[in-house]
Amino acid sequence: MSKTTVSAPANIAFIKYWGARDLARALPMNPSISMTLKACVSRCTVEVTGADHDEVWLSEPDGGFTHPGADFVRRVVEQLDHLRAWSGRGEHFRVATRNTFPSSAGLASSASGFSALTLATVGALGKTATTPPAELSRLARRSGSGSAARSVLGGYVGWPAGTLDEAAEEEGSYAVQLAPASHWDLRDVIAVVETGAKTVSSRDGHRRAATSPYYERRLELLPGRLDVVRRALAAADLTLLGPTLEEEAIDLHLIAMSSHPPIFYWSPGTLEVLRTVRELRQEGLAAWATMDAGANVHVICDPAAEPAVAERLESLPAVGFVIRDGVGDGPVYETGHLF
Ligand code: PMV
Repeated sequence: MSKTTVSAPANIAFIKYWGARDLARALPMNPSISMTLKACVSRCTVEVTGADHDEVWLSEPDGGFTHPGADFVRRVVEQLDHLRAWSGRGEHFRVATRNTFPSSAGLASSASGFSALTLATVGALGKTATTPPAELSRLARRSGSGSAARSVLGGYVGWPAGTLDEAAEEEGSYAVQLAPASHWDLRDVIAVVETGAKTVSSRDGHRRAATSPYYERRLELLPGRLDVVRRALAAADLTLLGPTLEEEAIDLHLIAMSSHPPIFYWSPGTLEVLRTVRELRQEGLAAWATMDAGANVHVICDPAAEPAVAERLESLPAVGFVIRDGVGDGPVYETGHLF
């Protein structure tokens, strides 16, 4: 039982998890495929304490600590409860966490945050060496942020939807690495057009997804898209991947906008960035856009195009700043701690 600190990255999905068969357990309706990032990271320190309750802190860049909101604390404690039940241990924890990027702005802070929390807690319980990656992914998924199941792994990651057998699925729904980061050096230039928290959580988005008349249609189209993305990954072919990843992102938002009640994640800046990405392609640059449940735009490109893509996006009045990210190797256990 020792203090454990883990830095876990966010991920950006090429094929999105949108809509759940069982939201509480984050059992997805459809398979998803993502790229694990490296610059957008959550860092989390967990320590077992002798207290009768969990302590949850936000770690500030100046070394200080603040109290997070009640909803954040509730979600963290719920995940600690899952991990207590899994390990058969009753102790409580002190937790501190910090993101290197704006939280709750559609930049998958819950994926990196819950992946870091899960791995650090398993470490604090002294169980890292005996817990295989599939089990870590399954445990991260139980946080309720399904995409956290993908953030425990590096490189390119697939999360199958699983079978319809509930018991098997509960055991079996976890993500697997499809290719290591070294397989393909892809970049993600993130145009941040909004840093505030989004008004509708992805949880509510999943809940409402099936109310959209376009939801079933997307599920029909997915096998073809999954096949394209798998082939593009195998061949490291961005011109094959790009159109499908853009189509997928637009469909997620089409479904969100046509859900009952509708959800509008985009801002005017989102449209400006999307137009600019189309212009960049007309100028001969290989760059394609994708968005999660938020207004910010991830522009996927190769290393040669990255400087020009970043420069152009930075020049747009609607873009507050740009984060230059790319495929990464996954979570890291650190020797330094947040407390
Ligand atoms: O993991 P959640 O429940 O926050 O849902 C993630 C949803 C998207 O980010 C929009 C898509 C995805 O697959 O990452």
